[in-house]
Amino acid sequence: MGKQILMNAFDMNCAMHNSHGLWKHPDNQRHRYKDLEYWVDIAQLLERGKFDALFLADVAGIYDVYRQSGAPAIRDGVQVPLNDPALIVPAMALVTKHLSFAVTVTTTYEHPYAHARRFSTLDHLTQGRLAWNIVTSYLPNAAKNYGLDEMIKHDERYELADEFLQVVYKLWEGSWDEDAVVRDVDRNIYTDPNKVRKIHHAGTYFKVPGPHLSEPSPQRTPVIYQAGSSERGRAFAAKHAECVFVGGQTPEALRFYVEDMRNQAEKLGRDPQSIKMFTGLNVIVAETKEEAQLKFEQYASLWSREAALAQFAGSSGYDLSAYDPDSYLEYKNTNHGQTRAAQFTTFAPKKLTVKEVMDRIGTLGGQGWVFAGTPQEVADHMQEKMELTGIDGFNLAHLITPGSLREFIDLVVPELQRRGIYKLDYEEGTLREKLFGQGNKRLPDHHPAAQYRNKDAYPTPIFNADQFTGDIHP
Ligand SMILES: Cc1cc2nc3c(=O)[nH]c(=O)nc-3n(C[C@H](O)[C@H](O)[C@H](O)COP(=O)(O)O)c2cc1C
Repeated sequence: MGKQILMNAFDMNCAMHNSHGLWKHPDNQRHRYKDLEYWVDIAQLLERGKFDALFLADVAGIYDVYRQSGAPAIRDGVQVPLNDPALIVPAMALVTKHLSFAVTVTTTYEHPYAHARRFSTLDHLTQGRLAWNIVTSYLPNAAKNYGLDEMIKHDERYELADEFLQVVYKLWEGSWDEDAVVRDVDRNIYTDPNKVRKIHHAGTYFKVPGPHLSEPSPQRTPVIYQAGSSERGRAFAAKHAECVFVGGQTPEALRFYVEDMRNQAEKLGRDPQSIKMFTGLNVIVAETKEEAQLKFEQYASLWSREAALAQFAGSSGYDLSAYDPDSYLEYKNTNHGQTRAAQFTTFAPKKLTVKEVMDRIGTLGGQGWVFAGTPQEVADHMQEKMELTGIDGFNLAHLITPGSLREFIDLVVPELQRRGIYKLDYEEGTLREKLFGQGNKRLPDHHPAAQYRNKDAYPTPIFNADQFTGDIHP
């Protein structure tokens, strides 16, 4: 049996994610994103297809860089209207047994104390089927709405994220002993106060004395996902991430990222194979090549150039409407996403004019991300990508929801299963166990979070617990 492909469905709690303009397709159900039934159906569909996780992206603001206005994005549903991704998880968890949920939360604008409790809650409610996609956020108006005059600089956002993680590791891994909750009716003790510790965190960005409010959840720290591929982003991923989403135009670029992050992780004392690597996949599949091509053309006719350019501007920092279309697009450091900024500049095999870049973005498949073909051709494409790049799996985007997902599950999954490279059934256990094997419910000892499990790290007696060793009466 070959290496088993890991699969996430890439989605967002909004009317349109990255399938720009395709909300207009009559089969698209995306406008139902406000209904729990819609999400429950998607979760059940993905579990039928033995997907590992539903990956829910999120942003903290409007895409308003293009034409220096939020109007193009708002008019065309570019990741707005947008609801909270975490709140739909419990309903989906209730109707599934194995599907996991990767929820995006920004470290730049959320607070670690509240975040730790929300994710412990979700890890309890999903019985350990939770991952956290850590992002540092690239939209300037998010900064303003969270009370900052301007966006924190790119690399500093990662410094802040590092400290955010220290705080949540302390809360998740160190604050509550495994046996703190005793529910001892005879002694009248629900939780032993001697086994709940303050964390006394006082750093550059956060002051959190603790203790954590939630008792230990199945995984304590949810599985950590990360997607930034800039130099600073890769260093961050090598230190913290268990699953990384790697973008890259060519197989060579992908392989470079994969190897670079594994090497960096090894230097930090981590097992490099303990990081699973994913890349994006967007397919149009049909029984015959002609049918797939017809669908491609139909979708292409609905593609929205303006929406795609608005998304590109927000994530890269380049408002292409303000450039001379005949000039070459040059890389410049922005405070947005550096990988996205490099996509058509540093990473492009040849120099491109602004017009050429706009035409690529403005055309379905112009960025090289959409593959149309038969189930066999799609399976070949996936296998080839895995072999050329060293990745472990894919993040499946979809043009029509849930139609494209259903087609993938009905046509491609059986083909992958026939080839012995896709699970026939789920492993038992938490997401971390499904990814890394039975018994790996918690982060491994070589992960930096493990250092915060040491009880001596929180030496101060905090609740005068000695007075409460006997019966506790109100
Ligand atoms: C597959 C994938 C998913 C992402 N999802 C999100 C997201 O949900 N929210 C977000 O703000 N950024 C998202 N990003 C952007 C990255 O998290 C990151 O902010 C961006 O790549 C900039 O980081 P960098 O400069 O280190 O590349 C995603 C990137 C990729 C490749």
